[in-house]
Amino acid sequence: MKKILCIGAGYVGGPTMAVIADKCPQYTVTVVDINEKRIAAWNSDDLPIYEPGLDEVVKRCRGKNLFYSTDVAKGIKEADIIFVSVNTPTKTFGAGAGRAADLQYLEKTARSIIEHADSDKIVVEKSTLPVRTAQAMSRILHSNTRGLKFQIISNPEFLAEGTAINDLMDPDRVLIGGLETEEGKKAINEIVEIYANWVPRERIITTNLWSSELTKLVSNALLAQRVSSVNSISALCEKTEANINEVTAAAGRDTRIGAKFLKASIGFGGSCFKKDILNLVYLCGYYGLPEVAEYWEQVIKMNEFQSRRFVGNMLAAMFNTVADKKIAILGFAFKADTGDTRESPAISVCRQLLEERARLRIHDPKALENAQLDLEDAAGDITYCEDPYEAVKGAHAIAVMTDWKCFKELDFKRIYESMEKPAFLFDGRNLLDVDEMYGIGFNVYPIGKKAKTHF
Ligand code: NAD
Ligand code: UGA
Repeated sequence: MKKILCIGAGYVGGPTMAVIADKCPQYTVTVVDINEKRIAAWNSDDLPIYEPGLDEVVKRCRGKNLFYSTDVAKGIKEADIIFVSVNTPTKTFGAGAGRAADLQYLEKTARSIIEHADSDKIVVEKSTLPVRTAQAMSRILHSNTRGLKFQIISNPEFLAEGTAINDLMDPDRVLIGGLETEEGKKAINEIVEIYANWVPRERIITTNLWSSELTKLVSNALLAQRVSSVNSISALCEKTEANINEVTAAAGRDTRIGAKFLKASIGFGGSCFKKDILNLVYLCGYYGLPEVAEYWEQVIKMNEFQSRRFVGNMLAAMFNTVADKKIAILGFAFKADTGDTRESPAISVCRQLLEERARLRIHDPKALENAQLDLEDAAGDITYCEDPYEAVKGAHAIAVMTDWKCFKELDFKRIYESMEKPAFLFDGRNLLDVDEMYGIGFNVYPIGKKAKTHF
């Protein structure tokens, strides 16, 4: 039985390996992490991340051919193939701070591999990395003094949170990059063989190492760019009475443009879009392409503008002050169906509102614990509410931050009645029906559409 090891039991390592174990009973899959609490949670009934469909897959395989452990050394020794899925956040210190990827976790992983390995291995970059990282990885791994050989493969992950299991079970494509040498091709084939257990061959793309590494950054940059493009136009729509939904629906019908990822919003969040674009910006600067760097940086600037604009609109609508006003924040996760709040636009909106001395009542069905950590250092009046009706009681305004479907099922008549008047509704996700909400009595401010008010 071939042994797969994954180092890093996070949002990517955990679900990805569960699906590989599920689809490949002929492999033993072990996921290791230095975070003991996380591994204990993976071994419990209360998994460390919320992801629809994940519990079922883990329960099917755990203890059979899927294992979660903190024994990194043993995992490395036994493995034939090692996926590296550690975090690669933006560097916060030294050269490239605020842009470059912090590769210390990756390098530590490479060093533990050479410390504990006693046979040749394939090492797969699953983490998102700057292009040409495999070269550094290879140099570190081959600095071992025991003559061990490592083949580096790039196999970036394209899953989105909230739909991870479906994305893994039925991916648009799987990308596998390797060196164009005989050994490189052999290693690529070994990884192709894993995915070919459930992914049609024509969806498994093989490329050279550098194309694969760069494709991951480019895919995220292109997706984020669409959101920023649409959000920039949402600002123009609000000035001109054009309706962003009508504009994107009609523009997206052009098959060259496509309908997906054109939803105007409070802005994109998540652990990767910002970090990966910053990484791209850094790389372009590093390779002497300042114009290209500036081009991509604008995607982030537009995203920041959108959340500032949203808070500006709130202030303007609420008679230029929110001081001492209760504001209900509906949703804190960066998107629906996840408890993840990393880089959630809700964080910046809440901080801006707290600076304006608003009193916040925050509700989210899955992300309250993370919300508390994110706002731990924020001064002001914040209450975290399990019950959405408690959050809105006596509030002057509601700000919808996450597109949770369950918010659509709320009793907005009851909500309206329990609020201060005039009652304001700022829908940062265009989730709720403007006419219906206006009919109930709210003054409604959607994104990229004309506000509907009773004034
Ligand atoms: P995460 O922070 O949730 O998980 C990373 C894990 O690696 C942590 O649990 C950490 O303890 C562990 N780790 C760090 N150093 C270690 C070491 N030396 N030994 C063992 N474990 C170690 O991160 P994530 O969201 O899973 O992302 C991982 C990578 O995948 C990143 O490069 C990210 O850009 C990329 N990615 C993320 C997503 C996503 O949706 N979150 C999607 C695609 C790609
Ligand atoms: C994104 C990519 O979609 C994945 O392919 C990639 O693997 C992943 O990043 C990663 O590398 O981490 P994720 O961030 O989980 O996945 O979620 P998305 O669905 O891409 O949403 C990102 C943000 O954009 C969310 O805040 C979402 O609300 C926002 N968004 C998305 C919009 O505002 N409008 C849209 O039309 C789409």
